[in-house]
Amino acid sequence: MAVPEFQTSPGMRDILAPESARWRAFVEVFAGVAESAGYRQVMSPLLEDLGVFQRIGDATDIVSKEMYDFADKGGRHVALRPELTASICRAFVQHRPPTPWKVWSAGSQFRYERPQRGRFRQFDQVDLEVLGSNDPHVDVEIIALGWEFYRALGLTQVKLLLNSLGEPEDRARYVAALRSYFESNRDSLSPESQITLDKNALRVLDSKRHGDASIIAGAPRIVDFYSPDAAAHFEGVQAGLTALGIPFTIDDTLVRGLDYYRHTTFEYAGGTLDSAQNALGGGGRYDGLVESLGGPATHGIGFALGLDRTLIACDDEGVFTAEPLALDAFVVDTTGGLEALQLTAELRAAGLSADRAYENRSMKAQMKVADRSGAAVAIIIGSNELEEGAVTVRPLRNNDGQQTIARSTLIDYLKKARP
Ligand code: HAM
Repeated sequence: MAVPEFQTSPGMRDILAPESARWRAFVEVFAGVAESAGYRQVMSPLLEDLGVFQRIGDATDIVSKEMYDFADKGGRHVALRPELTASICRAFVQHRPPTPWKVWSAGSQFRYERPQRGRFRQFDQVDLEVLGSNDPHVDVEIIALGWEFYRALGLTQVKLLLNSLGEPEDRARYVAALRSYFESNRDSLSPESQITLDKNALRVLDSKRHGDASIIAGAPRIVDFYSPDAAAHFEGVQAGLTALGIPFTIDDTLVRGLDYYRHTTFEYAGGTLDSAQNALGGGGRYDGLVESLGGPATHGIGFALGLDRTLIACDDEGVFTAEPLALDAFVVDTTGGLEALQLTAELRAAGLSADRAYENRSMKAQMKVADRSGAAVAIIIGSNELEEGAVTVRPLRNNDGQQTIARSTLIDYLKKARP
């Protein structure tokens, strides 16, 4: 086959069946977990004023390097969303719902990244946020719901990593100490980390480069900079997770890629992906983001879980597999097609799934399509059946013999035959 002129852009994919059904099921499982805990769905636009996303922080790669932004026909500087949190906070400021505002959301995000396994330019997230409460139990609830969701998918190798970045002032003092430590070891850092250091000392801790590990190991620790309130909050979160029996590992190098985090940060690490892409999801507190978008001082915490990466982890663990779509019946009509038209409509109206062949093709050609359709049975209507008010039911998935039954009994027959 010749290469078509147009194909998907790098880092973007078409999702075809049965994978597309698995994507939908993924969001449904997530919606079930979120809604059973009182979270309600928010659907925000794919495109916002660039300024909304700039509030995430200029030192964040997704803002400074990876944004899909452009001027629209009205001259507005807009961007495709790189994440959901900033949009949700913008919506909070715009609508001012009562707090705590507990919401979930899902959909595609856009980041101009270098595509590789588990890293795409258009990817999907499911997201949970709570605005308006500083209770450590909210942190625990959020983290626990992500954990429960992974369990609902059947994943067993996910690890929960936990950290706290303290109050903004703690974080600032820590960053200053880190900067001077890394500056005094600048020559031993990798060239990439030296560049990172000039922009954001905290992000050097994120480096997975082998040569940086020993320098990072000797760096000041955030735990030594917590104010009493920050320490108490973090202890509350740990105690809550322990009370729920959720295992976690404290990782004080977990600073996450976005600048808005304060206090609790966490990540769900997959056991099977490369370390650079093993974050299946992550989140944290972002007290301050709502104010930066023009709202009142409002606490916030949430997470986003990457659908694409989580499904790769599901494939690696052999869970939450894509099932071929099944149909109850496939109608084969050799009398012209009108019978198929009516019968499929009747079956669908009765709550059965049914498809048919078109273009009045031969019995053999229609049976071929029936075989490919994944239907449990073919319902054959030829001139004999038509004359007798009957249909012939031919099983397609096993060798049970075919039978001819009265057409008026077909719906009952098919409903009883359902697994
Ligand atoms: P994030 O860590 O940037 O956080 O993204 C969350 C998850 O989205 C990642 O763990 C990963 O699974 C997935 N992801 C990110 N980039 C890509 C990509 N290029 N290709 C495939 N998957 C990707 C956030 O987005 C924050 N908004 C999370 C949050 C919510 N914090 C507080 N509330």
